[in-house]
Amino acid sequence: MIPVFEPAIGEEEIQAVVSALRRGEISGSFGETIPQFERKFAEYVGCEFGVAVNSGTSALMLAVAAAEIGTGDGVLVSASTNVATALGVYHKGGIPIPVDSEHLTWNMDLDLLEDLITPEVRAVLPVHLFGHPVDMDRLMGIADQHDLIVVEDCAESHGATVRGRMTGSFGHMACFSFYANKVITTGEGGMVVTNDQALCERLRLLRNLAFTEPRFWHEYAGYNFRLTGYAAAMGLAQLEKIEEIVNEKRRVAHTYSRNLDGIPGLQLPVELDWAKNIYWMYAIVVNPSFGVSRDELASALQEKGIQTRTFFCPMNQQPFLQSMPGFRDVPCPVADRLWEQGLYLPSSPNLSEETIEEISGEVWHVFARA
Ligand SMILES: Cc1ncc(COP(=O)(O)O)c(C=O)c1O
Repeated sequence: MIPVFEPAIGEEEIQAVVSALRRGEISGSFGETIPQFERKFAEYVGCEFGVAVNSGTSALMLAVAAAEIGTGDGVLVSASTNVATALGVYHKGGIPIPVDSEHLTWNMDLDLLEDLITPEVRAVLPVHLFGHPVDMDRLMGIADQHDLIVVEDCAESHGATVRGRMTGSFGHMACFSFYANKVITTGEGGMVVTNDQALCERLRLLRNLAFTEPRFWHEYAGYNFRLTGYAAAMGLAQLEKIEEIVNEKRRVAHTYSRNLDGIPGLQLPVELDWAKNIYWMYAIVVNPSFGVSRDELASALQEKGIQTRTFFCPMNQQPFLQSMPGFRDVPCPVADRLWEQGLYLPSSPNLSEETIEEISGEVWHVFARA
């Protein structure tokens, strides 16, 4: 089976984790490795502060809490995304308002944003889907005009840039995931980055049960979202390789695109002229003119030992959101179609040219038989 993703873990990561364990860096409360990982990752993104947490979902929950989003506050979120994007808002009593995708990059359609802004809307939470950045210069302009807080969901976009500037460095806060299939991984893990010292302090406070003085006296309801020291050590070892991993991901994508170009009915990922796409996953859309459905293509590939995954079920269709009081039922026809027609192919950074050619050959073969 060619898995949809395999992380690039080597001896360096193993040694880093073992050394951290030997130093006793087990919990998330002690040691130098966590602050070092926070400094280095924030520096990579181009932000002043990093707050390491135990998942990308925790990062989003913490950012929403630090932004003081609460009951009844509206937050514009990309419709086509992992449910984690909406969960932080949901758990704070805020209302995620889905914004439909645009056709080329499948990211939040910025043309739709202003019409969805009402006095209740306090924030916008764009996702850089599959590694293609949202045009953050344009988004920040709209957000500034309406005084909205911006939290970037960068779970899939480590290293992606907008006009040369890193995703994660535009918003008031940005949330990264280091889950096993992410660009770099700590197994489970995540980070919030920011340039705002007050926000950073609030994030740190809430991450660790909101301990204030005297100890065990709590003015706020915090969380335990601490990352372990040995996971941070793994993150530092991964960070050393991030440029290499991003370059490999781009190589994989370029090879797929060369091989799949010209198949009628198949929409391939793009890289707009102001963007650097890091192709977290090589995602394609199977239109009816391909001749067989997305599900039929996925089954045919599965039979040949090639694993795939569908795009996300959009936020406008999620039952738990639909049943929330105040949920806004915004039509998202593009995101609905992506859920039915989108699929991503094996995208590990270590995929050989031959394997990519073999997978592409199978896609051509399915098309030819249709
Ligand atoms: C867009 C997006 N946001 C958030 C997450 C949540 O990250 P984690 O799995 O680390 O909680 C993921 C992936 O899992 C994701 O793809």
